[in-house]
Amino acid sequence: MFERRRIMAALEDAVLAPSIHNSQPWRFRIVGEEVHVSLDASVTPRLVDPSGRWALASIGAVVAGLEIALAARTGHASETTFFPEGTEAPGGPTAGGQAWDGATLAVVRTGDGEPGDASRLAAAMPQRHTTREPLRAGGPTDEEWAFVLESAVPPSGPAARSGLRAERAESALTITLVELTARADAERVDDPAYLAEVQAWIDREGRVGIPHQSAGPADSAHHYPGRDFAQSLSGRAGEAGEKEFEFPPSLLLVTTSEDGPLDQVLGGYGMLRAMLAATSLGLGTGVLGQALEEPASHAAVDAAASGSLGHRAVVHQILRLGHPDQPLSPGHTQRRPVSEVVLR
Ligand SMILES: Cc1cc2nc3c(=O)[nH]c(=O)nc-3n(C[C@H](O)[C@H](O)[C@H](O)COP(=O)(O)O)c2cc1C
Repeated sequence: MFERRRIMAALEDAVLAPSIHNSQPWRFRIVGEEVHVSLDASVTPRLVDPSGRWALASIGAVVAGLEIALAARTGHASETTFFPEGTEAPGGPTAGGQAWDGATLAVVRTGDGEPGDASRLAAAMPQRHTTREPLRAGGPTDEEWAFVLESAVPPSGPAARSGLRAERAESALTITLVELTARADAERVDDPAYLAEVQAWIDREGRVGIPHQSAGPADSAHHYPGRDFAQSLSGRAGEAGEKEFEFPPSLLLVTTSEDGPLDQVLGGYGMLRAMLAATSLGLGTGVLGQALEEPASHAAVDAAASGSLGHRAVVHQILRLGHPDQPLSPGHTQRRPVSEVVLR
């Protein structure tokens, strides 16, 4: 009973994890001292995520959050088994991430190793949010980069064994990634179905979706190609406004060398750990997803990253890091109560 209470408390923190359009597609089953984490694909947006990779990444993020929250509470590292039933999707190999609907994607339990940096990352959980504001007071220092890159992947365990890495984009790669993101964004911005889907996740009822205060301003200098959550078929919502963004941004890449379902889950896992480490240093953390959503632009990102990094890299996340020149507005995004996402 004590263990169940501790797990429920850890889940309260874990569900603060990022998810695609704040859809929170995670479901949990407490089995003895283990937490089985599954995907509810019925609640995820489809047009922004045609391959289902963002659904899987959202699960990876919550698994990382749960590991950290449990470790901070117990003083022991968590242990996770990903894809305990094998990595073949029950819905068929071509159906993408959504084919994992209902399947257990990870089992998290308390192990007996050292908790590492869990307390520090756990303390950042309530502060972390996705930044859509300018970060004009400078990128991370070299020491800050080193800390964030190291924290993104625990030194042992399945993520390290699977080749998960967090890497810093050098300046030519940064410019290429910004251009590829802008191009991918421009291809979508006239698509009524895509815009309607984005709008359906703004100010949505029921503690999911993105509140309009979190949508962020547009870049008055037109350099920064963040996803525009204020854009609708009838134009931009006026209150989101414009501000000048930093340029070039400081970009972190979460990579593995393959693009299977485990890699896609680990992309979200590394994403949250990097965001928490950055948050603990007072850095803002943005997300540039658009270029990774269609096969052709994703292939162009991977080719550019592989060439620059000097190894085969499948890019799972492009994160923007930097110091804000004014206090960041607190995260307003809501979460479903844990009791709604714990299955009986
Ligand atoms: C897989 C994934 C992809 C995301 N892609 C984007 C994106 O392209 N642009 C963006 O602004 N936010 C993106 N986000 C951030 C989510 O919108 C955000 O996590 C969610 O609204 C909850 O807000 P919070 O992170 O502030 O808690 C992404 C999050 C995840 C997990």
